[in-house]
Amino acid sequence: MSLIERDKEFVWHPFTQHKTAGDHLEIVKASGVTLFDAEGKEYIDANSSWWVNVHGHAHPHIGKAISDQFNAIDHVVFAGVTHPKAVELAERIVGKCPENLKKVFFSDNGSTAIEVGLKMAFQYFHNLEKPRRKVVALNGAYHGDTFGAMSVGQRGYFNAPFEPFFFDVDYLEFPTADNQEAILAKARELFATQEVAVLILEPLVQGAAGMRMYSPEMLDQLTAIVHQYGSLVIFDEVMTGFGRTGKLFSMDHCQNKPDIVAFSKGLTAGVMALGLTVASQEIFDAFLSEEKTKAFLHGHSFTANPIACAVACANLDLFEEPATIENMEALVNWGTEFKKELASLKNVRNTRQTGTIVAFDIDTGEGDTYFSDIRERAYSYFLENGVLLRPLGNTLFVNPPYSISRAEYSKITDAILGFLRSVEA
Ligand SMILES: Cc1ncc(COP(=O)(O)O)c(C=O)c1O
Repeated sequence: MSLIERDKEFVWHPFTQHKTAGDHLEIVKASGVTLFDAEGKEYIDANSSWWVNVHGHAHPHIGKAISDQFNAIDHVVFAGVTHPKAVELAERIVGKCPENLKKVFFSDNGSTAIEVGLKMAFQYFHNLEKPRRKVVALNGAYHGDTFGAMSVGQRGYFNAPFEPFFFDVDYLEFPTADNQEAILAKARELFATQEVAVLILEPLVQGAAGMRMYSPEMLDQLTAIVHQYGSLVIFDEVMTGFGRTGKLFSMDHCQNKPDIVAFSKGLTAGVMALGLTVASQEIFDAFLSEEKTKAFLHGHSFTANPIACAVACANLDLFEEPATIENMEALVNWGTEFKKELASLKNVRNTRQTGTIVAFDIDTGEGDTYFSDIRERAYSYFLENGVLLRPLGNTLFVNPPYSISRAEYSKITDAILGFLRSVEA
C-alpha cells in the first residue's frame, strides 16, 4: 500500500470531511521555507505550517537544542521537580513580557494555554471569595478546540454539536472603523455590573476569523474599561506572539497590559508542542493559602517537557540575533509593497497588514464565507505553482517564516497575483 492509501486506511485528519476529501499531500522533507513532496516537488510554506514556524524548518540551532536536551533530560515529572530549561525559559519569557506579568505556567498547545488562563481567572475570583461568573469575548474569536476555548470562541458551524455544553459568554462586536464608540459603550455596560471575571481576545489580529485587524488604541481603551471595574484581561497571543505583528508580542504595541497572556505556536519556533500562560503576581498571590484547595490544581503529563523548553530557549536566542529582526523588518516592507500591488486589482477587497501578515478578501460576489468554493480553487492553483497556502474561505493571507528570502516571497506573491488574474478573466 502507498503512504496515501495507508493514510486513508488509518488516519483521521483535523478539520477534514473524509467522505469528500481528496488525497493528502505527502510531505517528506522540510528545510528553510521549503517543503518537499514524495516526488521531490517543492512548495514554499507561505502560512508557516499553521502559523507556527518563524525561523524556517530544520534550523541547525533548534536541531542542536533538541539533541543536546535529549541527551541531558528527555522528560521528567514537573510536580515536585524542576529542571534548568523550564526555569531558564520562564525567566527569559518574564524578562520579555510587560512588568506586571511574573509567573509562567506550562502546558501543551494554544488551546491548553487558553484553558489554563480561563481557569486561573475563574479561580482567582473564587479564591478571593468574590466569585464572578461572566465572560466577555469578541465576535469572530477563535481560541482553540478544547471546551473552555470553544466556549469563548465564535459560535457556529464549527462547534454547533457542542454548543449545549458551553458556558455563557457575552460577545462584543469586532471593532471596525465605524462601531468603536458603540463597542466601548457596550463594554462599559457589561463590566459595570462587576459580575464579569474576564475579557478574552486575540490582540490586534483575529486569526481564524480571516486575519481581521484592529488598532492598539482600541485595544487599550477596552483594557482600560475592564480594569476600571476590577475584571481581568487575557490576551491570546498564540498566533500574534513571536514577531507576527512586527514586534515580539502584540502587547508591545499597547499601553495597557493584560493580566494573563497565552503563548504557543511561534514559542518553539513552530517545532515542538508547548503552551505557556503567564499571569500577574496579583493573580498568583490569590492562590497562596494554607488551604491546598486554593492551589491551581491543574497539570499535564508533558508539562514543561524539557525538550520543548530547550527549543523555546533556542528560539529566544534566535530572536536576540539582529539578523532575525532585520529579516522581519524586510518582510514587513515586502508585505507593504505587495499590499500596494493588490490594491490595483478589481476583485480584491479589504487589503490589510499588521507586521508580517498581509491579508485580503477576494470579491467573489457571494459574500464572505469559510466554505467559499474559491478556497478550493485557490488552494489547488497555489499547489500547482509550488506554494502551500491555505485560504480561510475567500480570505487569502501570507504569513511566512521570517527567514524567507525576497525571491521566495516573490514566488508566493506571483502565484497569488496569477490566481487573481485567472479568476478575474
Ligand atoms: C489565536 C489562537 N488561539 C488559540 C489557538 C489554538 O491553538 P492550538 O491549535 O495549538 O490548540 C489558535 C490556533 O490556531 C489560535 O490561532
